[in-house]
Amino acid sequence: SVIAVIYGGRSAEREVSLESGTMISKALRSKGYQVVDVDLYGVEQAADPIAQLQSIEFDLAFIALHGGEGEDGRVQALLEMMGKPYTGSSPLACGFAMDKVLTKRFWRGLGIPTPAYLSFSGEASVTEIEQAMSYPLIVKPSREGSTIGINKVANQAELEAALQQALEYDSDVLVEEFVNGPEFTITIIDDEAYPPIGLQPSEDHKLYDYEAKYLADDTQYLLPCGLNDVDEAELKRLSLEAYRSLGCHGWGRVDVMRDQQGQFWVLEVNTAPGMTSHSLVPMAAAHVGLDYAALVEKIALQAWS
Ligand code: DAL
Ligand code: MG
Repeated sequence: SVIAVIYGGRSAEREVSLESGTMISKALRSKGYQVVDVDLYGVEQAADPIAQLQSIEFDLAFIALHGGEGEDGRVQALLEMMGKPYTGSSPLACGFAMDKVLTKRFWRGLGIPTPAYLSFSGEASVTEIEQAMSYPLIVKPSREGSTIGINKVANQAELEAALQQALEYDSDVLVEEFVNGPEFTITIIDDEAYPPIGLQPSEDHKLYDYEAKYLADDTQYLLPCGLNDVDEAELKRLSLEAYRSLGCHGWGRVDVMRDQQGQFWVLEVNTAPGMTSHSLVPMAAAHVGLDYAALVEKIALQAWS
């Protein structure tokens, strides 16, 4: 049987996806699988992703796309229509998880703690934001990944600039209360939560941002994450609850903040997490003895079942 590793895409995360996909493809080959590489929207290939997928023979798709149509359910729906099994969550769960505003609205209804926020379609009202919330604030495009278009702001001028920037990526923007505490990320594979990783960006980075994620080598990863057993168990439980609430399946990664009082605040679920050499899912898996190739095989096999 042939596995198509689908990567690239035309989202702002294309570069990250190229690295994830190349590594996944190599890992599957090392395990003896027959692999076809599919660089969606790659320059040398057709600009029509439907034609591109239909032109190749494959039995299973490993989705290594991040952001855009590769993580919001559209590529998943296409594969569904083609009758091809694929890794990760359904079109519905992907679409839900990709939309931070929708997700937060839903979680607050369920009582899953997520930072207070205001959301806007198009132009945001600075007055409304300043009346309801206090600085520092986090400004995000609703549907982006890898911290692209996200800024932490401390005053009105920064807020206005950040809103402009977020709007370049999405017509829907959210402004979130900043949680002053460490960030944790929890890998979930096959409905099992892996050991949380604590993230400590260096002083130069206000956030665990794009540069801290992929370019800088001074981000500290805490694994074990430094929480006591009770708190770590609660973090895993909450992450699984948040993941399951969206109907996610196969694998994913949940990002969570912890404030100074020890309260956890769930930020989001990633349904097609990064698999680069700097990425967190492979790091968590390695910690429990699952090397990169074994991890990739496990995610692929999960899609068969
Ligand atoms: N969106 C990036 C790839 C991640 O969540 O790892
Ligand atoms: Mg994300």
